[in-house]
Amino acid sequence: MRIDPAAGTGAEGYRLIVEPGGIAIDADTGRGLFYGVETLLQLVPSTCGMPCLIPAVRIEDAPRFEWRGLLVDVSRHFFGKPALLKVIDEMAAHKLNVLHLHLTDDAGWRFEVPAYPKLVTVGARGDEDTPGAGTPRYLSKRDIRELVDHARLRYVEIVPEIELPTHCGAAARAYPELFDGERSINPAHDASWAFITEVFAEAARQFPSPFLHFGGDEFSGDRWDQLPEVQRLRQKAGLTTKREVEGYFDNQVAQLIAKLGRQPMAWDETAEAGVAPQVLIQWWRKDRPDVLDAAIRSGHDVVLSPVDQVYLDYPNALGEPGAPWEGNDNGPTSVGKILSWEPVPQRYTPEEARHIRGVEAALWTEFIRSERYMQFMLYPRLFAFADVAWRPAGREQPPDFEPRVQTHLERLRAQGIHARRSASDAVEYMTH
Ligand code: ACM
Repeated sequence: MRIDPAAGTGAEGYRLIVEPGGIAIDADTGRGLFYGVETLLQLVPSTCGMPCLIPAVRIEDAPRFEWRGLLVDVSRHFFGKPALLKVIDEMAAHKLNVLHLHLTDDAGWRFEVPAYPKLVTVGARGDEDTPGAGTPRYLSKRDIRELVDHARLRYVEIVPEIELPTHCGAAARAYPELFDGERSINPAHDASWAFITEVFAEAARQFPSPFLHFGGDEFSGDRWDQLPEVQRLRQKAGLTTKREVEGYFDNQVAQLIAKLGRQPMAWDETAEAGVAPQVLIQWWRKDRPDVLDAAIRSGHDVVLSPVDQVYLDYPNALGEPGAPWEGNDNGPTSVGKILSWEPVPQRYTPEEARHIRGVEAALWTEFIRSERYMQFMLYPRLFAFADVAWRPAGREQPPDFEPRVQTHLERLRAQGIHARRSASDAVEYMTH
């Protein structure tokens, strides 16, 4: 095994040769070497005798996308360090490299900000089913340090998301004076800006990621419109429409994240509201390709997470459990549907396509209440997603995916990790 900057494999690629005389892996970087080893491990049969025979191969391999992500929502239902460590292991085994943690939302606030202790003593209580009730559940600083270290050793970056201006119900329970009487921050108070600044500064202290995600999705602005202090802010800043106020807010947040030395990232609504091109845009609204096109044309880089292709909270098959929302209108999110997804729209020029940094699957957890069910929703679909994130442009979906995935499922079962095997599993998972 050799790291050799002259190997010519690129930042993440590797060359793996298995022949009777031995095994060699070459890569420009440690990351590439790591992926070569993961591929080698996949060549080892799940039941291996002595001697253990592995096929002779010569593989030159490199990923299509640099951003190969998975979002896990730990707000709606809380999933702590043990569950996330296992997810990171599976991501690394399948060469995924970004774990996006959706840390805050209406249901619960899930990380510590010492300057605002009620975010956890109040905001971390409860979940989607019982917001505000029960003992606080969150990732402690120590949990985060362990997760970040575990992930780093496996070449996975943890990107934290702190949702603003809305989806803030849990923080609003803790510090109502900073909010708008509902679930959005009040942008007209200096105290709100002190809060936002400290929350992101704390996120930057705990997460070394070059990116800080500030959400920005599904904001209506109706409530702000009714507040006299927001009206005054509007006049002072010369903002005429609700959308302009939203864009103004988004840009302020993006600037303070940039001052922390990190790149701001946000959902595609912020691009529609006019956020600056320095913000990495995560596109989810599959019925708004116009927003994606406009974002790219105005210079944003983007990560693609269209709701109908890669939202893993949607059902695997008709009649199975899963989120009932709009992502279902092109049929269930089956392994086959994910595998056949071509992320880059044909309408893009090569220059436009270069703005697509990668793809990210999303596991929202409004309806996911147990680790067992979480695993059922993740596997094997995450493996299909990883194939799309890695395989070269234009390459057909692998015909041997089903048999190959069986080996992975056996390995998961041996580790006590659940996975969907067939439609009949769903009944069991729905009732337990
Ligand atoms: C989203 O699903 N609202 C980003």
